[in-house]
Amino acid sequence: MSALLVNLAYIVAAVMFIFGLRMLGSPATARSGNALSSGGMLIAIVVTLLSKGIVEFHWIAVAAAAGALVGALASRLVAMTAMPEMVALFNGSGGIASLLVAWAALFGASPGVGGVTTFTAVTVFLSIMIGGVTFSGSLVAWAKLAEVMPSGAIVFVGQRVINAALLGGLVLGGVLFALLPAPDSPLFYAILGLAVLLGVMAVIPIGGADMPVVISLLNSYSGLAACAAGFAINNNILIVSGSLVGAAGIILTNIMCKAMNRSLTNVLFSGFGAVKTVTKVEGDVKPIVAEDAYLILEAASAVTFVPGYGMAVAQAQHVVRELGEILEANGCEVSYAIHPVAGRMPGHMNVLLAEANVPYDQLVESDDINPRMPNVDVAVVIGANDVVNPAARDDDASPIYGMPIVNVDHARTVFVLKRSMASGFAGVDNPLFFGTNTRMLFGDAKASISALISEFK
Ligand code: TAP
Repeated sequence: MSALLVNLAYIVAAVMFIFGLRMLGSPATARSGNALSSGGMLIAIVVTLLSKGIVEFHWIAVAAAAGALVGALASRLVAMTAMPEMVALFNGSGGIASLLVAWAALFGASPGVGGVTTFTAVTVFLSIMIGGVTFSGSLVAWAKLAEVMPSGAIVFVGQRVINAALLGGLVLGGVLFALLPAPDSPLFYAILGLAVLLGVMAVIPIGGADMPVVISLLNSYSGLAACAAGFAINNNILIVSGSLVGAAGIILTNIMCKAMNRSLTNVLFSGFGAVKTVTKVEGDVKPIVAEDAYLILEAASAVTFVPGYGMAVAQAQHVVRELGEILEANGCEVSYAIHPVAGRMPGHMNVLLAEANVPYDQLVESDDINPRMPNVDVAVVIGANDVVNPAARDDDASPIYGMPIVNVDHARTVFVLKRSMASGFAGVDNPLFFGTNTRMLFGDAKASISALISEFK
């Protein structure tokens, strides 16, 4: 295959990636965007395989079949609630793949056989460093999310000094490696070890509600590692796709930091969840049963549903849509308030509501719904907790202080659908549950919504 043809195919693939990414920005086009990007990746892989003069394909076929099997099983078997863990593992795989590709480049398996230029040595070093950090950091992030290890922040005296020393050691190792690049020298293994250790050390002090930001940041790192590997083996599409992942990851990280009102430095170094200075909230809770909640809903002319992680656990999205339709038929204006970090992954609520065919025009972002909240008759909080916690707005001692919330307490009446008084992901108490206009509808969200539907029927 001529170099011109290969590069033309790569440009087509890159354009497909870019448009695919753009389409992921809206729930209406996200599925097609995903398919378009996958098509781009297929072109990139096929063209790369055909252009490298590969003589034996069987090991490649075995790896491709194994990868396809893992992907197909994961897409079927991994629960929606476990998606962040899966993304963490994907990021880790990306990191180790880039590391291995760059390592292989040192053995002369790539163009430039017979010697490694300083440029290649630097790009190999960057792939090994970023790939190693991404790999081990993602495994720790997975272990924390899956609760295989304690999910809170692990902090100790001198931690930052140790991390700075590790980074300093890596940079020094990188300079020496650029002068004398060799794939199996003690220096190379030292760099490898330091990178893997730094990944672990960088992620252990992060915990609690900051984990999604870290996953997104590691996603960006996996892109940067791939980009560096692309330079190491001189492959244009790897450089482009790595840059796109790197940029998309950092943009998402930034969006999430804003949604939690945190700076990235604060997320990376503050040790969220290490010290709990939680204000204990006490007061009278006013429970309500479905029969009474129905009477209030039946008379309402504006209802806003505020879904959170509990809706995903209860798989209540279909009955929520059904209740929404019943309310609309009853002459009520229905909307769904979407908080950017509701649930456990970016876009979690959008995905669930799209699956239940909730019309996209009824989804309203928290910033847009908040000014309208005083005119909402009933805000129905479905398994959301942290994202509706007024302490984030009013209590500067709260660990989540400053995180933007959906101001459901400003609605005329609030129904909170959850099973108990337990706290949410951030582990902080919620004064909303004791509000004068709040009624707690205890029980599994799907069962509670179904009971409301039965009342209407
Ligand atoms: P959370 O604050 O985690 O609260 C979820 C609530 O759902 C819990 O209080 C739980 O109370 C309730 N629940 C669980 N199962 C339920 C069921 N079957 N039926 C009814 N209720 C149920 O959720 P949120 O408000 O969506 O906030 C998200 C949190 O996760 C934030 O702190 C965010 O920073 C963090 N986070 C977000 C992401 C992203 S990117 N979205 C990723 C990781 C972490 P009961 O146990 O009493 O039922």
